[in-house]
Amino acid sequence: MDPVVSYLKNNFNNYIEELKEYLRIPSISTLETHKEEMVRCAEFLKGKLQDAGMTRVEIFETAGHPLVYSEWLGQPGKPTVLIYGHYDVQPVDPIDLWKNDPFQPTIEEGKIWARGANDNKGQNFVHIKSVEAYLKTLGALPLNVKFLFEGEEEIGSSNLSLFLKEKKELLKCDAILISDTNLFAPNVPTITYGLRGLLYMELEVTAANRDLHSGSYGGAVANPINELAKLISKLYDKNNKITIPNFYKDVLKLTKEEKNNFKRLKFSDKKYAKELGVKELQGEKGFSTLERLWTRPTLDCNGIVGGFTESGAKTVLPSKAFVKISMRLVPHQEPVKIAKDFTKFIKSLTPKSVTVNVRMHHYGLPVIAPLNSSAIRAGANAISKAYGKKAVFTRDGGSIPIVVEFMKHLNAPAVLMGLGLDSDDIHSPNEHFRLENFEKGLLSSAYFIDEFSKS
Ligand code: BES
Ligand code: MN
Repeated sequence: MDPVVSYLKNNFNNYIEELKEYLRIPSISTLETHKEEMVRCAEFLKGKLQDAGMTRVEIFETAGHPLVYSEWLGQPGKPTVLIYGHYDVQPVDPIDLWKNDPFQPTIEEGKIWARGANDNKGQNFVHIKSVEAYLKTLGALPLNVKFLFEGEEEIGSSNLSLFLKEKKELLKCDAILISDTNLFAPNVPTITYGLRGLLYMELEVTAANRDLHSGSYGGAVANPINELAKLISKLYDKNNKITIPNFYKDVLKLTKEEKNNFKRLKFSDKKYAKELGVKELQGEKGFSTLERLWTRPTLDCNGIVGGFTESGAKTVLPSKAFVKISMRLVPHQEPVKIAKDFTKFIKSLTPKSVTVNVRMHHYGLPVIAPLNSSAIRAGANAISKAYGKKAVFTRDGGSIPIVVEFMKHLNAPAVLMGLGLDSDDIHSPNEHFRLENFEKGLLSSAYFIDEFSKS
């Protein structure tokens, strides 16, 4: 163990340079134009895994972006950990708000700044390097390691989902280790045992068969933007509860114990509001902020377009308006059922003067993982050791759609050992990752391998 830790510490500066190389690849999964960059990024990972000394490294093509699989299975009889990460990143818009080019990583204020620095390249890279440290210093790992990197996490993981069902034997493991979540607060080692799910929908509202002069026609024909706004306003009530019929029916109630655990975590609404530049927080009545974020479902418009959006003024009665709506779901809500209820509800609210087309983009299931596995204990011990204090257990508001499927099809616990911070601005301009967390992440990963090998 000691030589592994020294090796990691001694090579830290090289790792930063390698991470920069990884971050220079603009692997934006949702953009058709970036297909080749995705392939380039998968090949980058393949190279790094080969250099690390992994015995098998393979790229698997999918109907979408490639998967990278790798293994080192030199310890028959010892546990096997499957380490998952995603190499795809979110788009960079609005680009004007970035202080530096999102794909020219820079180091400032002890942080590395780039799209993907936290989510997820910075976080998944630590595991490659910790495995490499074992193989380069001791010539072996104390357990078996498999890696799986995908390029479609940010767009719903549908091809990985198919792959997983076909390759259960290949991916067979005793635990799934994932660093794609956040610490509860700076310097607070955290194991996340719950994630929200997601349902992503889009509405297209059409009125007349073409754009019209708003003077000649306004007042006689419906305006799809106005009607869309009315529809949206009916999705919430005055207590900020979602009005879709049956929406809360399957929501898992918070236990007293969990409620008390959340209270014990020091969380200040005031500080949170101030940091976000809002005078007051807002959410479902009757719940604390952490309860709302971690255990309650939400519905949010993610983007809305229609009519004239350039600078200047144009008088027009548009033909169409669109909105993208996502819902964060919690155990045991079922996305497909909710998509049906949502569609039915929207249709029932729509006046005859417009037509509405409802479509689903993708969905992911919520997660709640049991806390009593040896893998979770190894994760908690490992991250505690790296940060020098006891880990806390939290849920989180974000989603990683494949986690539940891993647990189900591989029949193994997932350990969410996140290294980011909420304030790292993932999915936003100026995403960054603290070098301190990169460094402690390397150690957490190495300690996990050691801890879990003994179970
Ligand atoms: N790393 C995030 C998930 C996350 C963020 C978990 C913050 C906990 C805290 C992941 O890459 C992500 O962004 N997931 C998407 C999934 C979606 C596109 C299906 C999300 O949550 O929006
Ligand atoms: Mn993300």
